[in-house]
Amino acid sequence: MQKTIAISSFKGGTAKTSTTLHLGAALAKYHKKKVLLIDFDAQANLTTGLGFDPDENDSMAPVLQGTKELKEVIKKTCIANLDLVPADTWLERVEVTGSLAADRYSHERLRDVLGPTHYDFIIIDTPPSLCWLTESALIAAKLSLVCATPEFYSIKGLERLSQFMESIGQRHPLHILGVVLSFWNLRGKSNHAFLDVIEKTFPQKLFKAKIRRDISISEASIFGKPVFETAPTCRAAEDYLAFTKEILKRL
Ligand SMILES: Nc1ncnc2c1ncn2[C@@H]1O[C@H](COP(=O)(O)OP(=O)(O)O)[C@@H](O)[C@H]1O
Ligand SMILES: [Mg+2]
Repeated sequence: MQKTIAISSFKGGTAKTSTTLHLGAALAKYHKKKVLLIDFDAQANLTTGLGFDPDENDSMAPVLQGTKELKEVIKKTCIANLDLVPADTWLERVEVTGSLAADRYSHERLRDVLGPTHYDFIIIDTPPSLCWLTESALIAAKLSLVCATPEFYSIKGLERLSQFMESIGQRHPLHILGVVLSFWNLRGKSNHAFLDVIEKTFPQKLFKAKIRRDISISEASIFGKPVFETAPTCRAAEDYLAFTKEILKRL
């Protein structure tokens, strides 16, 4: 059965896009899963991270407006079994235009258009704020993956995120798959403090695999490919593979 995962944090720079890309790529490349990534952030970093020009492709916007079908906006990527719906600037404030503007339940449209597909996984990358797009993604997904970094502003934001997830969870089924830490420094002085706060906010949800800081991630994005293609033995590749195995175990 199709599993839909929303990546969230309501913040920029918590590696949401990198996590979407590498989780999707690892599932497709090493676990033979059929994966659809949805770039649901008008900044389109996932789109450029996979080598596509956001100005040249349709996004989810026309699909949400009902003028195109999902299959018309899906692109094949450099990895077999990994497909992408790109983002573009039309996504920004899409909810106040066209047929969405008058729809009281517009935030349920994404869930409806993602209905059953032939994919094993649909992974939705979200913008760095708690906006209509993020809410739609959390409603469309039954599972949510929380991204955080070992910094106090990031960790503190987790409480707000947890409250918001709870409020969505009262209206729509939403299960928190786990919390993943990126930019991890094995020797960080405050590591224990961070881990304690996460444990309190999301008990037993933190993944053992943590994604270490690795320049290969930003280098790979310049080539428009995941690190598995550009630097398959780098430590981020190793960490993302361990993380992907852990996810599969939890499901
Ligand atoms: N583990 C990592 N090590 C080093 N740089 C990283 C790592 N993960 C992400 N980055 C870089 O940090 C920046 C922000 O990451 P990104 O995934 O775009 O975060 P978000 O989508 O939450 O804003 C990007 O330039 C990305 O290439
Ligand atoms: Mg992003």
